[in-house]
Amino acid sequence: MNPKISTQSDKKIKMYVYHLLMPLLLLMVSKFSVVPNLNWISAYIIVGGANAITFSWVSEHVILFKMHKEYFWTYAFVLLLTSFLISVGYDLFGLYGLPVFFGVLAITALMGIESGTAAAITLSTIAAVSGNGNFKLFSMYAIASIGAIFLTKRLDKRFDFSKAALWNSLISVAMVFAMNSAFSPFELQFKSLFLAGINPFVSMVLILGVLPYIEYLSRIYSNMGLIELGNLGHPLVKQLLTKAPGTYFHSVMLSNMCESAAQRIGANYVLARIGPYFHDIGKIKRPEFFAENQQDSNPHDSISPMMNYLVIASHVKYGEELSRSSRLPLLVEDMIKEHHGTRMVSFFYQKALSENLKVSPDDFRYPGPKPRTKESGIVMLADSCEAAVRSLKSPSLPKIQNTVEEVVNKIYNERQLDDSSLTLRDIDQIVEEFSKVLFAMHKKRIEYPKTTQEVEKVIKIAKM
Ligand SMILES: [Fe+2]
Ligand SMILES: [Fe+2]
Repeated sequence: MNPKISTQSDKKIKMYVYHLLMPLLLLMVSKFSVVPNLNWISAYIIVGGANAITFSWVSEHVILFKMHKEYFWTYAFVLLLTSFLISVGYDLFGLYGLPVFFGVLAITALMGIESGTAAAITLSTIAAVSGNGNFKLFSMYAIASIGAIFLTKRLDKRFDFSKAALWNSLISVAMVFAMNSAFSPFELQFKSLFLAGINPFVSMVLILGVLPYIEYLSRIYSNMGLIELGNLGHPLVKQLLTKAPGTYFHSVMLSNMCESAAQRIGANYVLARIGPYFHDIGKIKRPEFFAENQQDSNPHDSISPMMNYLVIASHVKYGEELSRSSRLPLLVEDMIKEHHGTRMVSFFYQKALSENLKVSPDDFRYPGPKPRTKESGIVMLADSCEAAVRSLKSPSLPKIQNTVEEVVNKIYNERQLDDSSLTLRDIDQIVEEFSKVLFAMHKKRIEYPKTTQEVEKVIKIAKM
């Protein structure tokens, strides 16, 4: 059978199972016992409708769902866990103590605002069904949780989570007050207001405790988890410093370039800062084969061009293996696999041609794939630009700018950025940012360090 057709039919079966089975599971975990005379068919249609529409939208529009199946499973798992917590909340606190925000905050932190909004609609529907068809609850939970994540914008620090909970709390209290005074004779209960106000904070505390486990199991990291990984204390990064100090220094340079560029074009700058620390982690295996770590001797001279290509290209495969065994985030692993795309190791191809060997350019390509996210595309561009600027003799700003433009145009014309969703406008802005950062870092004419001690000294200077 054609593997493409079989994957497509697998996908369809998975979708049908999700759309048909998931509402049933959600209803089962959320409310077996809460609603006294629940009409299961009606409840199934309501929850099934909300779930089908929101999930179809997310799986179609959020690229991450197409890249890794873990996004699908984690999304489903968080919905189920939250639905279970909704039934616990109902038993303990009643209608205004349902921890809808737990799921919304978790999905937003892990997968972004679009996915969080979709989760908010499904979970608020479940809250309304659990509340015996009280659809005032749907508006309150949906508006408060979607409003909170839109007002908070980024969830990079613990304080951002507190801010989101505060917004949710304020909106919930306002909604309870307005709904109770608008739709029924004024019968405001302070208990309801108190519960609506405190509920988002309970969800926030719960999520801070559970998030690290979800991150470890799914390898989908929130920005807060990524920041913890990026403190240069990770065992793999420490190994890079001791075994391949030149590569370590190159990775720190890249991190600065990628962060600025991502910030400028509105991409995830935390991911763009952390990914580069690990992008060349595979070089800890044979560091002496890579120019940035070479001192006097060059081991390439003693082996054939094809062998040289194999050693150079293997840093991608080995990096991927290390990333999997260390459970690095999936998106960081993507950067390891994609930072050379399907480009050619042209130096050794040319060398093979000069030795009259029968070779084709495809024999000397990296395995790929090409970058599939904006952040990964930025890492690919930064990687080549940094290496090119490093070889300039006296790097003035115009010289750096020309070199960066040349390198970026070459990669663009090779069509390596086709899947990265970077626009031409993004690329122009990335060139500007790279030039600025590279000029700032080369102003002091920092010599490329070869030993661990030298790297530490130079990084201290670069941070000044
Ligand atoms: Fe590399
Ligand atoms: Fe690199």
